[in-house]
Amino acid sequence: MNLELQTLSWARAASEPADALILLVSQKEDKNTGLLANMLAQAEKTGDFSTAAGQCLMWWKPPGLRAQRLVLAGVGEGRPQDIRQAVTAGIQALKKTKSIKVTVCMQQDQVQHMAVAVQAAADAVYVYTATKPSAKASGISHVSFGVPDSRSAQALFAFAKAQVAGVSLAREWANRPANHATPDDLAKAAKLLAKHPRVSCEVLGLKEVTRLGMGSFAAVAQASAQPLRFIVLEYKGAAASQAPVVLIGKGITFDTGGISLKAGAGMDEMKFDMCGAASVLGTFEALAQLKPAMNVVGLIPACENMPGGKALKPGDVVTSMSGQTIEILNTDAEGRLILCDALTYAKRFKPSAVIDIATLTGACVIALGHLRSGLYATDEKLAQKLQAAGEQSLDLNWRMPLDEEYAEGLKSNFADVANVADRAAGSVTAAKFLHRFAKDFPWAHFDIAGTAWKSGAAKGATGRPVPSLLTFLMTEADQAKPGKSAKTASAKASRK
Ligand code: BES
Ligand code: MN
Ligand code: ZN
Repeated sequence: MNLELQTLSWARAASEPADALILLVSQKEDKNTGLLANMLAQAEKTGDFSTAAGQCLMWWKPPGLRAQRLVLAGVGEGRPQDIRQAVTAGIQALKKTKSIKVTVCMQQDQVQHMAVAVQAAADAVYVYTATKPSAKASGISHVSFGVPDSRSAQALFAFAKAQVAGVSLAREWANRPANHATPDDLAKAAKLLAKHPRVSCEVLGLKEVTRLGMGSFAAVAQASAQPLRFIVLEYKGAAASQAPVVLIGKGITFDTGGISLKAGAGMDEMKFDMCGAASVLGTFEALAQLKPAMNVVGLIPACENMPGGKALKPGDVVTSMSGQTIEILNTDAEGRLILCDALTYAKRFKPSAVIDIATLTGACVIALGHLRSGLYATDEKLAQKLQAAGEQSLDLNWRMPLDEEYAEGLKSNFADVANVADRAAGSVTAAKFLHRFAKDFPWAHFDIAGTAWKSGAAKGATGRPVPSLLTFLMTEADQAKPGKSAKTASAKASRK
């Protein structure tokens, strides 16, 4: 999709050569005059439109307007969630028309929520095409954002565009079925990212992984006909002496459960078990576009979890790269088995922080539903930054506990640790398992089982938590700049 930023007042918007205009109208709208302001005043007077968030009114061929359609979209008090709702409603209404080029008119005080507005538009027009080329959209392909002073919005718009590119890449890879997104396909996607300046990629196979002692990761992959891949991405935007942030994405390209086989109904959705990996790929795409002065490493252990004659069996004990032995009581708790070796591998980068992202537990869906991702962290500052990044980007999370008592159930008579405890607090005990391997750096863990994709008629990946990760990283890079903190783009956007 084509995204553009332009300087545009309401007065000039009347002659804007677009197929449709969307006007974001807030409760405090009073500054504007001219045709559009008059139309708004009339519609409010007759009661056909109110500026409450989510209210929408469409005109067809209004006299005096160059655009064929006009949508008034209420944004209420102008909170970020209101802006998102209004843009989504406006684009959804126009998708039913023949509009191709749409202009969204924003007010100056809405510019701080540019990323939310642009992301909402992109999400509303996104169509998956990799294995359904016939879905190729004939609809909206061009969205321009008009603001009174575009210069003041440039940095935020560049951020928004990069975020959209990252989210789109994450959605695209996550949506692909497992036979079109094998571990090797993910490795190839990572290699493609390394064509960008500052990005490099190394891919390890079974031989290297075995040599490293990643016995836990290799065990999960051992029944699959698809060879495992361990993907190492590096973004180098600062001196080598600067400690990197390491992102680790769970890359189970299909999770059957293994010998602890899952039930059949809805099992197709376990193609989404690599959404963590997809979010790392997406974040790297965005970093490549934004070129921040920082270092970031992306690690993706990628494999299938299959049953079969070579498969892991309940009771099997494996040795992780950390040296800790693990009794596998349930082969369906495989995510933690591949992540623990990636966490140990992360140590070699002497990271400033390690963040893993995983569709880890059904229990997290029970705990938090589909609105907020579970956030675990051993470092208060890191936790606060990730919470703030989530609120700012409307990619919400909720802090979860890591009390030592939760690890009680992971005790084993046959190994250092078991890979499952009982059903209680399943998302927390999974995090406690990972915690054992994340003692040497500030660590955070996103359980995105409930937020990474939608089920039902709207089945598809969301691209979360790319907005949070990118917002966090760009804020870190901004704050590292000498003499720069409050005036930067992402800091500006955080002011509500
Ligand atoms: N990938 C699943 C978690 C999952 C399940 C995410 C449903 C989204 C929806 C993970 O590998 C898994 O199977 N976890 C088990 C753990 C259990 C065996 C302790 C689960 O949640 O049932
Ligand atoms: Mn599983
Ligand atoms: Zn899984």
